[in-house]
Amino acid sequence: MSKFLITSALPYVNGVKHLGNLAGSLLPADIHARFRRQTGHDVLFLCGTDEHGTPVELAAHAAGVPVADYCARQHAVQADIYRRFGLSFDHFSRTSGEANRRLTQEIFRCLDAAGFIEERTILQAYSPTDRRFLPDRYVVGTCPYCGHPNARGDQCESCTALLDPEDLRSPRSAISGATDVEFRATRHLFFRLSAFDGRLRDWLATRRDWPPLVRSIARKWLDEGLRDRCITRDLEWGVPVPKAGFEDKVFYVWFDAPIGYIAAAIEWSEAPSRDWRDWWQSGEDVSYVQFLAKDNVPFHAVSFPATLLGSGLPFRLVDTIKGFNWLTFGGGKFSTSAARGIFTDTALALLPADTWRWWLAANAPETADTDFTVTRFVDGVNKDLADIFGNLVNRCLAFANARFDGTVPEAGDTGPLEHQLVRSLDTHLARLRRHHESLALRKAADEVRAIWRLANAYLAEAAPWSAIRNDTGRAATIVNTAINLVRVSALVAWPFIPSSAEKVLCSLGEAADLVAWPQRGRSTLSAIPAGRRIAVPPLLFPKIAVADLQHCPSGWNQPDG
Ligand code: 2FM
Ligand code: ZN
Repeated sequence: MSKFLITSALPYVNGVKHLGNLAGSLLPADIHARFRRQTGHDVLFLCGTDEHGTPVELAAHAAGVPVADYCARQHAVQADIYRRFGLSFDHFSRTSGEANRRLTQEIFRCLDAAGFIEERTILQAYSPTDRRFLPDRYVVGTCPYCGHPNARGDQCESCTALLDPEDLRSPRSAISGATDVEFRATRHLFFRLSAFDGRLRDWLATRRDWPPLVRSIARKWLDEGLRDRCITRDLEWGVPVPKAGFEDKVFYVWFDAPIGYIAAAIEWSEAPSRDWRDWWQSGEDVSYVQFLAKDNVPFHAVSFPATLLGSGLPFRLVDTIKGFNWLTFGGGKFSTSAARGIFTDTALALLPADTWRWWLAANAPETADTDFTVTRFVDGVNKDLADIFGNLVNRCLAFANARFDGTVPEAGDTGPLEHQLVRSLDTHLARLRRHHESLALRKAADEVRAIWRLANAYLAEAAPWSAIRNDTGRAATIVNTAINLVRVSALVAWPFIPSSAEKVLCSLGEAADLVAWPQRGRSTLSAIPAGRRIAVPPLLFPKIAVADLQHCPSGWNQPDG
C-alpha cells in the first residue's frame, strides 16, 4: 500500500462554479482519489476555496456584505454543491483560514531570511476615473506576447504568459473601461523567482512522465526566462505581510493560494491520530498528484515549487501534474460574468450528479478542448448510462427476480463462453487499471464502457431466457455469472458514478462502503454467494431528452438543441 496525496485546484470562492471547473480539476481528482482508495491505497484528497484577491473583494462589495461574511457564505454554498456531486474530499478548506495565514507568513519569513525577497519601487496602475489602484485583473489590455486584446494584468488566458500590469499594451480599467490608466510609484516586495532557474530545470528534468500539455507549458515558461514576481498588493483582504513597512499590504492571492494545499492538510490533522507531516514532509512513500486547468500550470509547475524550494522547509514537491484543456460551451467559452454555460447548482437541479460526472469524465478535455453541446450530452448519457449500463443491470436483475425468485442461483459447470469471458474481463480490468494509473481519464471511461458492453454481450449470447426453457441448470449458471458481472460493472463504475454504482451494489447485497477493486480470474465472477437475496433497483437512468435541459432555473444560455 502506498500513499497518494491528491489535490484539486482550489476554486475561487466568489460565485458558484460552472461545469468547466468541475471537468478540469475537481471531478478528475475525485475519480483518481476513488480509484486509489479502491485499489487499497491510503489517500489524502484535499481541496478548498481560494478566498483572496480583488474579484472576491469586489463581489462582496457588490453583495453589500463584509468580505469575511461573504466568503463564509460562498464557501458553504460551494461545499454543499461539491458534496452533492459526490466529491470525496478528506477536507475542504479555506485559504482565508488561520492555518494558511500562519504558514504563508512562515514561508515568507524563510524566503526573506534566505535572501529571496527584495523590496522594489514599482509603478502600479491607477485609474483617476475609478479613483483606485487597479491590481491584477482590474487592468486589461493587449498581451505583449501573443497580441490577445483582453489579457488581464496578471495573466494572459490565451497564451498563459504571466504578466505584470505594466506589461500590457493599451491598458484600460476592467471596472469602467477607462483608458486614463496611469502608473504611480509604490513600494512592493518581490519574490526572486529568477534565482531558481537552474534548480527548477533540474527538478523538471526528473518529471519525465508529466503529460505533454503540462511539460510544454512549464518548459515554455522557463525558456522565456523566469521573472521576479511582485507578491504584495495594496488591498485589505488577504494574508497580512509580516514585514516592517509593509503592514498595510497583503500577499498576492497566487502567493498564498497553493500554500493552502498544505494548510488544508494541517486543518485535516486537527483530528486525533492524523499528522499532516506524514503527507507533506515524509520520505518517499507518498506520491503527490495535482489536478488543474492549463492556465494554472505555471503556478504549480514553477512558482509554487520555487516558493517551497526557496523556503528551505522540508515540503514535498508535486510528483505529477495532470493539466486539462478547456470545456467549451456550444463552441464558445463558459462565462461566469455573462451567465453563459451551465453552473454546478443548475446542473444538480436538472439531473442527478452521476449523469454529469459520467459525461464530463468520458469527454474530459484532456488532449484538446471539449465542446459541450446539449445534443452531444443527451446522446452520450442516454447511450452509455441508459442503454448500456442501466439496461444491463435491469435485464439481468429483473430476470433473476422473475425466474429465480430474487435469489442468486447456484452456478453449475461453466463452459467456453464463461472461460472466454473471464479472459476478456481480465484484459479489460488490467487495461482499466493502467489507464487510471496513468491518469488517462477518457481511456479509463472507455474501458469501463467496454466492460459494460462485454457484460451485455455475454448476456445476449448466453441468452438465459432461452436456456431456461429446457436447461434450468445452465440458465442458473448464466444468471449467477451475469449477476457477478453486474457487480464488477458497478465496481469499475464507482469512481465515475459513485451514487449509481452504490445503488447497484446495494441491490446485490454488497456493502457499499467496501467498494474494492475486482479480483482477477474466475474468482471475479464468483464473488457473490449463491442463495443471497437480491433486489431490482429502481430505474437507474431514465432517458433524458434535449427538452429536459431547456427549462433551467438560472445561469443558462442555450446554444443549441
Ligand atoms: O484558477 C483558479 O481557479 C484558482 N483559484 C486556482 C488556485 S489553485 C491553488 F493554487 F490554490
Ligand atoms: Zn498572450
